[in-house]
Amino acid sequence: MNVLGIETSCDETSVAVISNGKLKANLISSQDFHAEYGGVIPELSSRAHLQIILPLLKKALSIAGIQKDEIDLISVTAGPGLIGALLVGLSFAKGLAFSLDVPFVPVNHIEGHIFSGFLMDDKPEFPYLSLVVSGGHTLLLLVEDDMKIIKLGSTIDDAVGEAFDKVAKLLGFEYPGGPLIQKFAEQGNPEKIKFPVAKLKSKYDFSFSGLKTAVLRYVQSVQKENPQLDDEMKSNIAASFQKAVIDALVLKLNAALQEFEVKSISLVGGVAANQSLRKAIQNLGENYKKKVVIPDLTFCGDNAAMIAYRGLKLYESGLRFTFDATAYARLPQDAFQTF
Ligand code: KG4
Ligand code: ZN
Repeated sequence: MNVLGIETSCDETSVAVISNGKLKANLISSQDFHAEYGGVIPELSSRAHLQIILPLLKKALSIAGIQKDEIDLISVTAGPGLIGALLVGLSFAKGLAFSLDVPFVPVNHIEGHIFSGFLMDDKPEFPYLSLVVSGGHTLLLLVEDDMKIIKLGSTIDDAVGEAFDKVAKLLGFEYPGGPLIQKFAEQGNPEKIKFPVAKLKSKYDFSFSGLKTAVLRYVQSVQKENPQLDDEMKSNIAASFQKAVIDALVLKLNAALQEFEVKSISLVGGVAANQSLRKAIQNLGENYKKKVVIPDLTFCGDNAAMIAYRGLKLYESGLRFTFDATAYARLPQDAFQTF
């Protein structure tokens, strides 16, 4: 069984092949040119996907050692994401599936992230708590099995990655700013500035816009005396901000670990690449004696391997899809059960 995965929801074009349950190819082409605009430009993103998707498919098939007529199933991200960008992958996958006469599976991008731990040798065990931290989403979920995902909470404003990117912009870093915040934070003192951790009524929701504003106010107050922030200041701000984010995430995960009897914890999404966050979640898992699965960096950011994996699971569970899937920008209301 050869499964082709296609991902084009944002600024990564990715094509993957899973053959008989083994990942054979996972090519990711990142659109670095958005950096000069300080964020992803949807129109440019769609054009770039269109340009590279076919060469990327050819390369992935050659790495996987299969011909196109050996593809048995096509799995593609249908949303959420940038509509124009999604349409490129979706139309491409539909056309290919139709011409090859193979099943086509539209996949929810967030579900792809939620199960990305299964791409690792050491996999999550059900039931598990999944903390999804990406540029567009922040979710805490109880994953009971392949088909039952219960949403415990989500952000009421900014996503974690969005907060990283906005704070990075304040510090003068290029987009995406997460990796640079991490780099500067390594040299800084996380105790230097006390940034607030939002206190919310709902037990498992998150909020990061207050933190972002607190960083803005702090930067403005420092700039009154030093218009140009030096590297030491930037490092301390980055480290203190990063600590506040991690504290907020750990707080909610800790509460969920006390309430739900789970076997493992999985941290996923682009921000799961953050080394301090990875360490904090590992430590939390050790305290509770739970298995912790955090995917390798290639499976944290957007990738087609997770889409191929999820599409295969949906297909194996008996779901069949017609070609009428449309691209969607928001999570459908019924995508996850709400706690
Ligand atoms: O999952 P992803 O690749 O795309 C979305 O689906 O949103 O996540 C991208 C996000 C960006 O906001 C980026 O700044 C953040 O992940 N990110 C990081 C790190 N690497 C990427 N944030 C913090 N620390 C990192 N090392
Ligand atoms: Zn993503």
